[in-house]
Amino acid sequence: MSFFWIATASPFEESHQEPPSAAIVVFGATGDLASLKIFPALYHLALEGRLPENTAIVGAGRKNLSNEEFLKLFRKAVDSAATSGIKIDESFWTRFKGRISYQKIDTDEGYNQLNHLLRNQTNRIYYLATQPSAFSSIVQKLSEHGLIYDSKQKDRWSRVVIEKPFGRDLDSAQNLQNEISKVLDESQIYRIDHFLGKEGIQNLFAFRFKEGLFEPIWNRRYVDQVQITIGEEIGIGTRAQFWEETGLVRDLLQNHMMQILALAAMDPPANLDSEKIHAEKIKLLNAVRLFPDKIENVAVMGQYDEGEVKGISVPGYRQESGVPAKSSIETFAAAKVFIDNDRWEGVPFYLRAGKRLPAKTTEIAVFFKGLQKDNGHTLFIRIQPEPGIFLRKISKEGESRPLVRLDTLSDQPQADAYEKLLEDCFHGDASLFVQADEQIASWKLWTPLIRHAATHPPDRYPAGKTWGPKAAEELAHWEVLEKTSINP
Ligand SMILES: NC(=O)c1ccc[n+]([C@@H]2O[C@H](COP(=O)([O-])OP(=O)(O)OC[C@H]3O[C@@H](n4cnc5c(N)ncnc54)[C@H](OP(=O)(O)O)[C@@H]3O)[C@@H](O)[C@H]2O)c1
Repeated sequence: MSFFWIATASPFEESHQEPPSAAIVVFGATGDLASLKIFPALYHLALEGRLPENTAIVGAGRKNLSNEEFLKLFRKAVDSAATSGIKIDESFWTRFKGRISYQKIDTDEGYNQLNHLLRNQTNRIYYLATQPSAFSSIVQKLSEHGLIYDSKQKDRWSRVVIEKPFGRDLDSAQNLQNEISKVLDESQIYRIDHFLGKEGIQNLFAFRFKEGLFEPIWNRRYVDQVQITIGEEIGIGTRAQFWEETGLVRDLLQNHMMQILALAAMDPPANLDSEKIHAEKIKLLNAVRLFPDKIENVAVMGQYDEGEVKGISVPGYRQESGVPAKSSIETFAAAKVFIDNDRWEGVPFYLRAGKRLPAKTTEIAVFFKGLQKDNGHTLFIRIQPEPGIFLRKISKEGESRPLVRLDTLSDQPQADAYEKLLEDCFHGDASLFVQADEQIASWKLWTPLIRHAATHPPDRYPAGKTWGPKAAEELAHWEVLEKTSINP
């Protein structure tokens, strides 16, 4: 199966085949993510004819909701998404809503009813958008109630999409993997990392592995260092409980950051088949070397204090509603890692991610050596916002404008990441999902830092004013792309 880059038309249309009849069951239907992302994505896919005509949508949760109440919730989610460009088509909605229902699912009886509800749907996607502690038991129940087919069946399929985080550390991820693999084949498991559905990631992929212009110099001979930044301006909002249980390493570093690192640094796959892509990613992730030194020399954790974002005062993490006054959960982490292979030996990769930083940005900065000291170039691959690829001269004066833009992304809004990934899942294309070995390799890497954090309180940084604590700024001479416009 191939890796799609910015699909121009529905693959259903391209193949001139009737799409298979399918149902999608969303566990966690009353939750945040379902309303924020999954329901608007399903509506929009259906509106654009990118879902099979008769796809049934079932919301599943433990709360007692009537179908009418659930329809209201679904419609509210779609209406809220309209502000970000999703069109509401009333006559389509009237037809579409007939395919939506709710199933209360806290007992065996609920699973029996779900089985009955899906009796006419051959193929099934189960999307687990619940808290991670429920993943294993839901998979178990689906299997006990005959809702999961044997993966060898040719005429029907069942797939399970699993939200993040997949485990809390190496042991728990391995346990979860052991549990679900008793009833699911790896080909049926779609671990979702929504970053991989972003246009900027597909742009990076095309730049490296389709165009390949920089491949001859994408190595230690020409590259001095690489930096990856995932910065968010926002704080934790109302998700105190989630943050207290999770922290930044689990929420951003072990998944999004590692996937970006893998795509930025892996060897080009022999072809763009899903299996080849995953094989190269896994090789790369297993070659990342962390903490050859003392952890405190190569990693920094931080937590934001009160500060200012866009001129408005904002509270510190410990003042956020629901956060204990002495919480030592990290909202920032930075680390220096090396990659043990021929291509990258000796090249430092600096990784940093945090909440309440001065700008929202996800970008990779590749520093190319110059012929003379200080006259190299930095290539910025911006994933979000405003994805693009830019080249800039390294300048002592801190030049903020790029010299040239290297990609040709259109200004038109592209498909939302969840839409892209859901569509791929319906088609059985797992290229942009995370495989078990990738997940385990990542936890192997970060579990020592998570253990270290349990006994070492994070450094402090003022919200919105600095790119993390002082120690992180001293770890590297960090650069971010402040402007994407080339003209003054
Ligand atoms: N929110 C985000 O922006 C975001 C972004 C990326 C990923 N995620 C991931 O998405 C998942 C859900 O996050 P969320 O923020 O939506 O959480 P949430 O608001 O707490 O929603 C979770 C929902 O799961 C339902 N649930 C719990 N146990 C269940 C079970 N056994 N069977 C069926 N439903 C069950 C609950 O509804 P009932 O009480 O009705 O059962 C609850 O509404 C998490 O893994 C999270 O890490 C969230």
